[in-house]
Amino acid sequence: MSAIKDKDLKYNLHSWSAQGKLDPIVVTKAEGIYFWDEDGKKYADMSSQLVNSNLGHGDKAIVDAIIEQAQKIPFMGPAFAMDCRSDAAEAVVKISGFPEGSKVFFTNAGAEANENAIKIARQYTGKWKIFSQYRCYHGSSAGAGMLTGEPRHFFNEPGGPGFVKYDGPYAYRAPKACKFENEDDVADFYLELLENQILYEGPEQIAAIWLESVVGSNGVLIAPKKWYQGVRALCDKYEILMVADEVMAGWFRTGKAFAYMNF
Ligand SMILES: Cc1ncc(COP(=O)(O)O)c(C=O)c1O
Repeated sequence: MSAIKDKDLKYNLHSWSAQGKLDPIVVTKAEGIYFWDEDGKKYADMSSQLVNSNLGHGDKAIVDAIIEQAQKIPFMGPAFAMDCRSDAAEAVVKISGFPEGSKVFFTNAGAEANENAIKIARQYTGKWKIFSQYRCYHGSSAGAGMLTGEPRHFFNEPGGPGFVKYDGPYAYRAPKACKFENEDDVADFYLELLENQILYEGPEQIAAIWLESVVGSNGVLIAPKKWYQGVRALCDKYEILMVADEVMAGWFRTGKAFAYMNF
C-alpha cells in the first residue's frame, strides 16, 4: 500500500462507506476531464466527481479568478456589499428564468441550501409540513437529511417533525396492477396519488413540495413532462410552494441553465 493511501485510511473518515472495506484510488494529478493515479494510470472522469466539477479539473480561467479574488479580498461577511457577490447573484437571477426582483442566497453546499429553503418555505407560508419523494437525495444535515427519502435518511431519524414522503413517478417500479399506455398515464397516476396525499395531510398544513428536477443519485430518473406541470398546478391549487432542488441537475447539466426549464 502506498504511503498516501496508508495515511488516508488511518486519518480520513470517508462518507457513506464501510470504513474497513475502503480501497481508494490515490489521485496525484487532474486536468480537464481526466485524472491520474499515483502509478500514472489515466482515468476519464465520467461523473465529474460528485457531478459537481462541471467545468473540468483545474480550468485556468477559474483558477486565475480564485487567485485574483483571494489576493484582493478573500472574505467579507454577509452584512457587507461586494462587487463579485452582486455580479454573481445578478448572473444567477438572469439565467434562472425567475422574474426581476428575485434574489439569491448563497450557501456553502447543497444541504445548506435546502436547510434554508425549508426555513424560508415555513416562514413564508406559515405552514410546517414539507413533502419530498422517497427516491431522492437532498443532503444529510439535520433538515436536508429528513427531506432525503432514500435509506441514507435513516441516519437522521427520528429527526424533526413535518417531513412527509410521497411516491414520485417511476413507471418501472410502479405497482403491478398499473397498466400505463404512455408517459401521460404515468403522470396522471402519480399526480392522483399526490393529490390524495395532500388532502389526507391537509393542504392548510403543507408549506412546500420538494422535487429534484431530475432525480440524480437515485437513478437519474426523468419524470414525464406532465408530472412537473401537474405538481405546479397542485401547488397553485392548494397554495403550496414548489421547490426544485437543482443541486445535481442544474447549472446547464441538462442543456438548459436549470433542469426545471425543460418541463
Ligand atoms: C439533488 C441534491 N441535493 C442536495 C445535495 C447535497 O449537496 P451537498 O453534498 O453539497 O450538501 C446533493 C448531493 O449530491 C444532491 O444530489
